[in-house]
Amino acid sequence: MEIQIHPIGKSRIDEVDFNNLAFGRSFADHMLIAEYANGAWQSMTIQPYGPLSYQPAMMSIHYGQSIFEGMKGYRSAKGDVLVFRPEENFKRFNKSAVRMCMPEIPEEIFLGGLKKLLEIDNAWVPNKEGCSLYIRPFMFATDEYVGVSPSTTYKFIIFNCPVGSYYSKPLKVRVETEYIRAAKGGVGFAKNAGNYGGSLFATQKAMQAGYDQIIWTDAATHQYVEEAGTMNLMFMVGGSLVTAPTGDTILDGVTRKSVIQIAKDWGIDVQERQLSVKELVSGILDGSVTEAFGAGTAAVIAPIQTIGFEGKDYQLPDKKDSDFSSKVFTEINQIRLGEIEDSRGWVWKV
Ligand code: COI
Repeated sequence: MEIQIHPIGKSRIDEVDFNNLAFGRSFADHMLIAEYANGAWQSMTIQPYGPLSYQPAMMSIHYGQSIFEGMKGYRSAKGDVLVFRPEENFKRFNKSAVRMCMPEIPEEIFLGGLKKLLEIDNAWVPNKEGCSLYIRPFMFATDEYVGVSPSTTYKFIIFNCPVGSYYSKPLKVRVETEYIRAAKGGVGFAKNAGNYGGSLFATQKAMQAGYDQIIWTDAATHQYVEEAGTMNLMFMVGGSLVTAPTGDTILDGVTRKSVIQIAKDWGIDVQERQLSVKELVSGILDGSVTEAFGAGTAAVIAPIQTIGFEGKDYQLPDKKDSDFSSKVFTEINQIRLGEIEDSRGWVWKV
């Protein structure tokens, strides 16, 4: 499919302070837009990032057919643009699409369109330590109709943001035992907008109580640790890496699976199993739980310092360079920057 290109008249790049990048507040010059209608993807356009105009009855706003992905691009020392495992995000995007009755996207648009977009906005990929270009592909229903049914038209868009860290300090998280994020048979594994909207109320309450994030527990019993919504959760328990198994309720995170692979390659025992909050708390108290951290594209590896449960705060040991989470962060960072050999074939060079 040919890409129509309408370049920006004058780049906005000089308006951005690359030395003080927040997460998700600045937007690169261009975006890619593909349109779906009459049962097929019709066109692909690259045009300046900017407002789009839609009807108030656009279905995605009312009934939530809206999915997204998150990826990151990095500037290598040689000046290349490297994207971390975008094929995994492509596959997951289509799983989300199927679950939400939306059309799957061809690789030619998701990865082919992204490649062209990154060639055009190459200058927006930061080269400062800790910074990257956050890539946000998303798709939403565009039919103008108030009945509840799958839309027949969709837009797929990719825009990019030069970003700094998502979390800037070790986190204080609270185990949520009242509200739920996802239930068996639901859409928790899909990256649909509603999962995030549904998480805001409980997260806001935790923040008002002085926490940064929530640990979601299973909907049926509230006994088992699930994920954090913005990232998967991982723990070092007695020298083993423990994380909840993916399924209906947990996002199959790309950083999660990368951490698991690296741990296995390093000979560390990995247990994808249910971890009860009881086991977690008693493990913190008896010292067998030595690390807790989140893993996600935006968050990368986010160490957890404090876990709140039933009104009490439990402290994890201070983060050390010899921790698994510190070492795995360094390994992932070096792979995505092209600083060490990419023996697993994870890096996609634009
Ligand atoms: C990501 O890690 O890319 C996500 O989609 C999480 C989002 C909360 C920024």
